Amino acid sequence: MIDASDTQIRDREKIGVRPGLAPARLDALSREIVGLKRSLNAVILAHNYQVSEIQDVADFVGDSLGLAQQAAKTSADVIVFCGVHFMAETAKILNPGKVVVLPDRDAGCSLEESCPADRLRALQATNPNFYTIAYINCSAEVKALSDVICTSGNAVRIVNAAPADKDLLFVPDENLGSWVMEQTGRPMTLWRGDCYVHVEWTHGSILKIREDFPGAPVVAHPECLRSVRLLADEVCSTEKMVSYCRASPAPAFIIATEAGMLHRLRRECPDKTFIPAPTDRCACNECRFMKMNTLDKLYDCMVNLSPKLELSRDILERARAPIDRMLEISAR
Ligand code: 13P
Ligand code: SF4
Repeated sequence: MIDASDTQIRDREKIGVRPGLAPARLDALSREIVGLKRSLNAVILAHNYQVSEIQDVADFVGDSLGLAQQAAKTSADVIVFCGVHFMAETAKILNPGKVVVLPDRDAGCSLEESCPADRLRALQATNPNFYTIAYINCSAEVKALSDVICTSGNAVRIVNAAPADKDLLFVPDENLGSWVMEQTGRPMTLWRGDCYVHVEWTHGSILKIREDFPGAPVVAHPECLRSVRLLADEVCSTEKMVSYCRASPAPAFIIATEAGMLHRLRRECPDKTFIPAPTDRCACNECRFMKMNTLDKLYDCMVNLSPKLELSRDILERARAPIDRMLEISAR
């Protein structure tokens, strides 16, 4: 039972709704983008954290795993990737012969920044028995140094499939890594990186919102701190949040992940209520990198076919095998 007034729920639902483009501009730009998609034979892939205007013109909206799977099978000539840089890189690695463009080349990720390739190489040199599992939120150079890639949606499966005689090294998210250790019982050496967005939620902030909305399940991303994950009814990737909320009989959910997810959830489950979990500082949380992409920049990158993703042949070749391994294990 949700013990909160309708107004209280509606007020919280408004949080996370960004001031958008003027309706006429939004319509015109969206129509232009749909036209460009046709003329370029392009596909627009968008992550669940993208602004609503981008999600609404995309051909596919999903989590990192779904986006990699879509990139692996697309027949489009041009991939327009609306997410952060490492995601567009992954699409390029899977499609070296295709044009991959992104609205903003500077859309990075705090996890990627935490793990420079030279530091990883130095750590790997300390133990020849390391088997490196890299969370997809890392650079192409780091992928090229890894044995297998994982996403939050398949990390448990990937770790369970890792060779039993190897010492597992998990990079770069220590929170996802510790959650996977708990799920699998496999000890791992964890890189000390984190997502600057997801570590903002605290035990106290989640306890407080649970008091305001007793009965609403808490759904949290595994990049959250352990003290937050312990309070969650479900810990899962952004895509699994959609299936969990759809299948649950609960009418309202507290969501502890980036604010863009609320648009996707409201679109998929229009009869349910989604309450952004507050942090200690704000009422919901946005990734400044994901939010660098706008509908204007999306239009520009399609018109100019720039910024374009380019990677050296060496990196393209070496980063491909661990991604293919991930896709193969996920398909089993
Ligand atoms: P998902 O793969 O669950 O969508 O997560 C990506 C991400 O960047 C989380 O912060
Ligand atoms: Fe990286 Fe966190 Fe932004 Fe995801 S939400 S792209 S992990 S900084």
